Amino acid sequence: MEPVNQVMEPVSKTAQWTAAARAMESERPDRIFHDPYARLVAGETGFALLERYAGSAVVPFVLVRSRYMDDAIVRTVQERGIRQVVLVAAGMDMRSVRLTWPEGVTLYELDRPALLETKAALLAENPPQRSAGAVSRCRAVPVDLAAAWQDELRAAGFDAGQPTLWVAEGLFFFLPEDVVRGLLGSLHELSAPGSVLIGDMTSQATLKNPLAKGFMRVLMEDGNPWLFGTDDPEEFLASCGWVTRELLQPGEEGASFGRWPYPVPPRSVPNVPRSFLFTAGVRSA
Ligand SMILES: C[S@@+](CC[C@H](N)C(=O)[O-])C[C@H]1O[C@@H](n2cnc3c(N)ncnc32)[C@H](O)[C@@H]1O
Repeated sequence: MEPVNQVMEPVSKTAQWTAAARAMESERPDRIFHDPYARLVAGETGFALLERYAGSAVVPFVLVRSRYMDDAIVRTVQERGIRQVVLVAAGMDMRSVRLTWPEGVTLYELDRPALLETKAALLAENPPQRSAGAVSRCRAVPVDLAAAWQDELRAAGFDAGQPTLWVAEGLFFFLPEDVVRGLLGSLHELSAPGSVLIGDMTSQATLKNPLAKGFMRVLMEDGNPWLFGTDDPEEFLASCGWVTRELLQPGEEGASFGRWPYPVPPRSVPNVPRSFLFTAGVRSA
């Protein structure tokens, strides 16, 4: 039984799909991360989508991405002393309780209102154990990231004067290019020196790949088409004020974890479907 799930936007259901992928990984003896809450928040919807979208290369990407971002988040808060973290389109992310956080971190989870309501209802059935390493404060902020959302974040306690770690995982391909550009620009405007952005993107060629046609058609039928990709994420990020510090394709060293079964095409080869994982910083004046 999934309370209030029927009112979620179609794109929000993809958060239950990625949670289902994390649940399956977490239940492997050789798992590359552990999300003990993923099965609960994935619900029946997530597992149904896992079957419906089976065969695309997205599941291995979700697994590699989860682990890459876990490592990058933990490293960033530890090494850079950032105490304000915003999950942009958090979905069914359970990092607030499954990662080990330093004292004093406030985590903001931005997403659509119905998604956050559904997540809270699912977790209320079986509340997570708060371990000693759980984040000090976790605040759900219902927003539409394609419109104005900054005031809601500020009202929840966000301080643009402090450095922020922004995490945008599994979001950009669902938005039109002008919205992605505007969103990255807004994140930059709210970023004090020392802020960091961790995210992922897909290439233009992925959207047009004949082998991905079936998957793209099903996404479209489900009301959550992929709309945006870029073959030059460094240039795209730079045009929005972000300096790429690390950019990896899944399968490369530091972004494989034994879960990427495909060859890694060199960047010099044009028009190849590929995904990108990146860590970026703000340009100093
Ligand atoms: C594939 S899920 C990713 C969720 C999570 N970050 C993860 O990796 O599992 C995409 C998320 O983007 C959110 N989203 C898409 N468009 C949005 C919008 N305009 N405003 C707020 N959230 C949005 C959806 O609700 C959903 O939670």
